Amino acid sequence: MADAVQTQPNPNAAFTPRVFSGIQPSGGLTLGNYLGAIRRFVEKQEQGIETLYCMVDLHAITVWQDPQALRHNTREVAAGFMAAGLDPQKSILFNQSQVPEHAQLGWVFNCVARMGWMSRMTQWKDKAGKNAENASLGLFAYPSLMAADILIYHATQVPVGEDQKQHLELTRDIAAKFNHDYGVDFFPITEPVIEGAATRVMSLRDGSKKMSKSDPSDLSRINMTDSADDIAKKIRKAKTDPEALPSELKGLDGRPEARNLVNIYAALANTTAEAVLRETGGKQFSEFKPMLIDLAVAELGPISNEMSRLMNDPAEIDRLLGAGARTARDIAAPILDRTYEIVGMIRS
Ligand code: TYM
Repeated sequence: MADAVQTQPNPNAAFTPRVFSGIQPSGGLTLGNYLGAIRRFVEKQEQGIETLYCMVDLHAITVWQDPQALRHNTREVAAGFMAAGLDPQKSILFNQSQVPEHAQLGWVFNCVARMGWMSRMTQWKDKAGKNAENASLGLFAYPSLMAADILIYHATQVPVGEDQKQHLELTRDIAAKFNHDYGVDFFPITEPVIEGAATRVMSLRDGSKKMSKSDPSDLSRINMTDSADDIAKKIRKAKTDPEALPSELKGLDGRPEARNLVNIYAALANTTAEAVLRETGGKQFSEFKPMLIDLAVAELGPISNEMSRLMNDPAEIDRLLGAGARTARDIAAPILDRTYEIVGMIRS
């Protein structure tokens, strides 16, 4: 009976769809950032949804950043965004510290979130390690500021790589607790968008570790600024195993390095790992790696050229970030005002 079908109520029905995501300018951009996040950002922009993308400089300083390098890296992430197809006319691009409402809402959320929630975050445990006593208080509170980044815009969707999933669950918990404690329906319950063939790009040297800008070995990652020669060298040196590629996905079980290269290929070719294996099953890596090099160079070469062109005019990048921040504040300021009202702050 058709009318017996129950549909789940959509908790965000009252909120206009809006996308927010952020990247830390704590180093250069990697292929992981590109495939796991930036490409998804561009897709969302092209769907005509309102999109805000942020260089989260306040998050970056939760671990030590050299001030000069931080400024450089913030501009370089902005250049990477634009070179990859984010258009400041279509998306709101800005750096977090120019919109003070993030930190202001972050404080309110510090008073909503519980110490226990924060201490269960795997990223906190990984980064603070055995030396938690010596980690910054900001690093502990990091996920609460992240929730504020998202909720200060009432964003309903957040495209990220797999490693941010737990932080987004915490964002939902913070929104739900705030709504419950104050008896309101004010913050949306945000949807994580973790999509594509490469939601977790692994290190080229160790298939059990995430590709990361902080890995001491540059051979472990492809940077968005790498030259064609560097990309070729890193893929040629990427760790593999002696077997040929399988023709089905289950043949990649227990072969993390092989799986990683297949996933990267699939993401770059805009297809699935299954489809790649149907085409390449039986090939040796000596044959597959040159195919992957061609694809990676064709995709990243023009982006890296455009990034260096944009980096020649840092004043123009700064101008664009300032304009983006002003637009972002127009959305954020009334939401912060309303939050303060709900919490009981006098607004006079
Ligand atoms: P960050 O700066 O570490 O990474 C930025 C984005 O890139 C994705 N990513 C990857 N995806 C696939 N494979 C990889 N190896 C890989 N490495 C990184 C990340 O998942 C992320 O989407 N906490 C966030 C920044 C942040 C944020 C936010 C994100 C602050 N506030 C609000 C979304 C919404 C972070 O450290 O990302």
